[in-house]
Amino acid sequence: MAGASQDSMAKQSFFSCNACGAVHGKWSGRCDACGEWNTIAEEVPLSTGPSAKTPSGARGTKVSLTDLATAETPPPRTGSGIAELDRVLGGGLVPASAILVGGDPGIGKSTLLLQAGARFAAQGLNTLYISGEEASAQIQMRARRLGLEQAPVRLGAETGLRDILTTLAAEKPDVAIIDSIQTMWTDHVGSAPGSVAQVRAAAHDLTSFAKRNGTAVILVGHVTKDGQIAGPRVVEHMVDTVLYFEGERGHPFRILRAVKNRFGPADEIGVFEMTEGGLRQVENPSALFLPERDTPAPGSVVFAGVEGTRPMLVELQALVAPTPHAQPRRTVVGWDSGRLAMILAVLDARCGISFAGLDVYLNVAGGMKISEPAADLAVAAALLSARKDTALQSDTVVFGEVSLSGGLRPVGQTENRLKEAQKLGFSAAIAPERSKTGGKTGLKVKKITDLKTFVEKIFGAGQSLKQE
Ligand code: TYD
Ligand code: MG
Repeated sequence: MAGASQDSMAKQSFFSCNACGAVHGKWSGRCDACGEWNTIAEEVPLSTGPSAKTPSGARGTKVSLTDLATAETPPPRTGSGIAELDRVLGGGLVPASAILVGGDPGIGKSTLLLQAGARFAAQGLNTLYISGEEASAQIQMRARRLGLEQAPVRLGAETGLRDILTTLAAEKPDVAIIDSIQTMWTDHVGSAPGSVAQVRAAAHDLTSFAKRNGTAVILVGHVTKDGQIAGPRVVEHMVDTVLYFEGERGHPFRILRAVKNRFGPADEIGVFEMTEGGLRQVENPSALFLPERDTPAPGSVVFAGVEGTRPMLVELQALVAPTPHAQPRRTVVGWDSGRLAMILAVLDARCGISFAGLDVYLNVAGGMKISEPAADLAVAAALLSARKDTALQSDTVVFGEVSLSGGLRPVGQTENRLKEAQKLGFSAAIAPERSKTGGKTGLKVKKITDLKTFVEKIFGAGQSLKQE
């Protein structure tokens, strides 16, 4: 029978990497695609179930671009009323879009989405929250804790995708929140829930439901720091928008970051604070990441950063101490360790300031993570300040990119950075020479061409920085 041979062909298993989703013909200890060890697992292909069957006479696949000309208007959006969330979404929720909200377990994804769901429901959107992790009673308890027990969000506790799709098809909600994609399983895939094949199949079915029915589908995905439960990496390619919810344990601050957005700018962030009563938005994050700074402290420098379109001042702290080890430590929290190594090398090669034999610690205060190269100069300043045990003026912000030659390169949104610094009571800035300051800020801007000049001007040329 033709059907039988097709079936046995379809049942032939394959191997895929749990970390990056790459598909391999045979098992091996290490994934060639991403280099991770022990991440390859056997899977049974998708094509055995009814949902994989191509409908006969595929309909509606051809549309001329000219037919779409009328659809030029931006997509209609619904704001949640939580400004920090709406900005990250690119101005609100777009119908028929698929959104992945990823983050470490326990960071607050369910809390955020229950609160967001309540707000969308309050705007009149038909909102469904389906949890595969908690029972309805538990979600209700959480809602009570958040003061949302009156919100018209409908709850479901379910993990079977077939039942969920049936519910969605019957209810046709405007918003469907699926918490989490790792708990969903579909019976036409042989592997266990949480495996790449299951996550991929569930995400595929849910995103295509979104496209066909105009429902905005929000998928929650757990991602651990070392990428271990990495199903969501596979999902990233399927959805329109990928948001990451980040924060350090022990710090109440949470940052929602758009890393991909078909309907808005990526790199945009929203800042929240986890409180007893759930997540509260933080409208002025600069004030929050800057601790009391009355007395200037050595090693502490304020960086005038920009995240997305939004300026944000953060404090960088460095500590430099003689090492008891043969190999000195370089420890970084909130910044890139490769970039720190580069700054140390440039300081050594271009300014003759060596950190050999010294442990170096660098910390971004408040649990913030910075990825901008614009922080280079501020990092260098913090390192020098710690190394020399000399505090920088506490009314000064620093920003600029350091090149390998030791030169300083101007960075984007200079005016935006200066304005924010002025708003928060700073009176001076140190910036690269060719920075476009626009001239209208009340800040005194010291413009500097290279790192060597920076060391001389700010930390004094006379004193030697060489180790005693
Ligand atoms: P949760 O939303 O369950 O995280 P995730 O879905 O990402 O796994 O959040 C869990 C943490 O948040 C938990 O440690 C308790 C804390 N929390 C608060 O501090 N305040 C609150 O109002 C709520 C609901 C949770
Ligand atoms: Mg959760």
